[in-house]
Amino acid sequence: MQIFLVRESVLCGKHFLSRKPRQEEPVSANRQQNHNLDRILIDSATIHARVREIGAAITRDYQGKSPLLVAILKGASIFHADLVRSIDLQMSFDFMAVESYGASTQSSGEVRILKDLDESLDGRDLILVEDILDTGLTLNYLIQNLRSRGPRSIKIAVLLNKPSRRIVDVRADYVGFDIPDDFVIGYGLDYDQHYRNLPDIWILKPGA
Ligand code: IMP
Repeated sequence: MQIFLVRESVLCGKHFLSRKPRQEEPVSANRQQNHNLDRILIDSATIHARVREIGAAITRDYQGKSPLLVAILKGASIFHADLVRSIDLQMSFDFMAVESYGASTQSSGEVRILKDLDESLDGRDLILVEDILDTGLTLNYLIQNLRSRGPRSIKIAVLLNKPSRRIVDVRADYVGFDIPDDFVIGYGLDYDQHYRNLPDIWILKPGA
């Protein structure tokens, strides 16, 4: 594929360079055929508007500071990527990967760190960026773990919050949307590692 693209650009250089940028393709429309998708819960325009609001709030709250925004992989990757670009501050970011769900829609209650931070937290203003606050088990574990590493402050930004599912008392400082107790996919959220690339947030069909 690589070789083909290089050759195309050389052989058809003029055409290649003058080609207009492609329009973003409407992935959702095609995936609507998929029998595991029920309906869109939050469309991409609404998500982006809300993410920009959260970015503006963080920009206001952290004036004069340089926060570290840590995405919890893989689910928060897309939210994190959009959020950091809505923040008008000097800041840095890092990633952690944890395992809390297998190939089902039920929480195992167990959290294992698969990839740890590269940066030290000593004296840092940490913002944990998570896709969804569900039972709270994952964030509860992470907060305890990260607090012991000496950050100056820890705040939590979640795109989605399912208050009705909470098992432990974890509160997020920035919340995109409160949602009902449905299993959702898209915009980074998966079911069995699929659907993360959907631009909208969908409800998974019950029994999928
Ligand atoms: P908690 O530990 O139960 O709060 O769950 C947190 C993790 O569970 C999230 O980071 C997600 O990876 C996953 N999760 C919870 N609810 C959903 C959902 O509706 N769709 C996809 N993943 C979910």
